[in-house]
Amino acid sequence: MPGIPQEILDEILSRVDIVEVISSFIPLKRAGRNFKALCPFHHEKTASFMVNPAKQIYHCFGCGVGGNAFNFLMRYERIEFPEAVEQLAKKAGVVIPKYNLDRQAESLNSFLYKINELAVIYYQGLLNSSEGRIAKEYLIKRGIRSETIESFKLGFAADKWDGLLNYLRSKEINLSLLEKSGLIIPKQGGGYYDRFRQRIIFPVYDLKNRIIAFGGRILPSREKEMEVAKYINSPETPIYVKGKNLFGLNFTKDNIAKFNAAVIVEGYMDFLTAYQEGIPNVIASQGTALTTEQLRLLKRYSQNVVMVFDADSAGQTATLRSLDAFLEEDMEVRVADLPSGFDPDTFIRKYGIKEFRKRIEGAKNLFDYKLDLLRSRLDQNRVEHKAKIANEMLATISKIKNAVLKLEYVRCLAEVLNLKEEALLIELKKIKPYVSVLQEKCLLEDKLSDIDPTEKLLLKLMLEEAELIEGLRGHLEPADFQNEHIARIVSVIFDLASQGRSIKPNKLMAYFSDEKISSFIGELLVPDDTLRGVESRQEIIHDCIRRLKNKRLRLKREELQEEIEIAQRTKDTERLEKLIQDFHQLTRGGI
Ligand code: UTP
Ligand code: MN
Repeated sequence: MPGIPQEILDEILSRVDIVEVISSFIPLKRAGRNFKALCPFHHEKTASFMVNPAKQIYHCFGCGVGGNAFNFLMRYERIEFPEAVEQLAKKAGVVIPKYNLDRQAESLNSFLYKINELAVIYYQGLLNSSEGRIAKEYLIKRGIRSETIESFKLGFAADKWDGLLNYLRSKEINLSLLEKSGLIIPKQGGGYYDRFRQRIIFPVYDLKNRIIAFGGRILPSREKEMEVAKYINSPETPIYVKGKNLFGLNFTKDNIAKFNAAVIVEGYMDFLTAYQEGIPNVIASQGTALTTEQLRLLKRYSQNVVMVFDADSAGQTATLRSLDAFLEEDMEVRVADLPSGFDPDTFIRKYGIKEFRKRIEGAKNLFDYKLDLLRSRLDQNRVEHKAKIANEMLATISKIKNAVLKLEYVRCLAEVLNLKEEALLIELKKIKPYVSVLQEKCLLEDKLSDIDPTEKLLLKLMLEEAELIEGLRGHLEPADFQNEHIARIVSVIFDLASQGRSIKPNKLMAYFSDEKISSFIGELLVPDDTLRGVESRQEIIHDCIRRLKNKRLRLKREELQEEIEIAQRTKDTERLEKLIQDFHQLTRGGI
């Protein structure tokens, strides 16, 4: 964090005892050298949460969380790193030095919060005055109750160019600093004017309930005017970075944690109606696609999300754009449908909260949602459309982190579209950034336990008789070995040989940081009877080389055949020609 040097952090950590820190929140039981407890981060009946005093860390074997005392506080108290540092510093009696730069920034920020506080009082006053009557009546007509207006501090900006300006001037606020709040805008030729005029004001809060920005909605009488935006929002300021906060989260975070689920809607009005009518775990995206930062913020409270976006194509597009981000953050996302033309606000007001809850309960998983949407827009019976559906779905599937789940979705997709699973896997492989499912599939198994015996034998021979290496180098290349670890080992061996350096197994091991590879090399050197009674090593070696070459050729041919099949199906003639050329070249023996 800016301003706190690493030494101070180390100092704090060395002075606090993680056992003491954690046991002030949850009861710990001694278990040998460690302490254990029921994990506070997931539900469990037997204790799998361990605290290690020697290493000053904690770890839960059940849900996988872990870290040092700072991490524990952040997770348990749901606070940010600087706050955790502050708390522990206090406990440890460590003084955190503040730098001037920080202090300056800090004072500008607190000044901006202060201005927003003053502005909200001004806007609230107007909403309750005769000038704001139309606005207030409009809100009430839309079903927003007075208590809701109060608790979210909704306000009104009158039809004036200098209303807020004069109010803040009267409070002797420095105008050039005020400009930094985004509430006033400099005029050409000098002076300023109010940003928000004739609009209903929605304060935007941060997690500490501080007002960081405002949104302003036009009055219904002007809604039809094409050139004015329905909503305008504060620009970015030192305290408001768009895409870094989630509207409403300060009000609903505890409920989101409690229910372990969040309901995401698009608009301010959707949020207010849903919250008021009994969806206590709602948040609003403010009409934009959700950013990774917003999702990380949300993830602190829950990984489960139901999106209820407007039932129009803009809403659907926004939903689709957000889905991938959820997957990248490894979150569980479902999508609820509304009848065409509705948004959560109008739906709840027309059909009631019970019906809305039903929609949430019936939300589709991401795979079904996207597939249904694509199928409603495209005709699966037309080859080009089918390919488009497949590609769109694969783009999403490629973002799924869990390899098992990913393969499962590919299988479903193949079934639904009546395509070969292998063909989809090949397509999936082409998606950038390069994520190979096949590779991940291999990762699931132990890569070293299931190796072609020919590859093993050749490596064994090279390790046992270094003189063979020079000869082999002329006939083989590392890529002839399908197992990637063996290919790496062979590549190192060949490199060393080309430099004329000795290839002793113990030295070879030092080239691999992975312990598994060293022990694999070790295993290969254990004498066994693989080669007993073999008279001509040369013969065996020739045999092995031939086999490896054939295998590589066969795999390459299969891969090409599958790709050709896809190119044919998708009528990608250009690619098809190139593939067929490759195929001929391959069968002629040139690789
Ligand atoms: P909507 O157009 O769906 O508005 O935009 P809404 O929330 O349903 O409002 P009502 O019901 O018409 O009063 C959804 C959200 O997108 C942002 C706002 O945050 C809005 O709540 N938005 C929309 C803008 O920032 N600017 C715009 O011009 C429109
Ligand atoms: Mn609406």
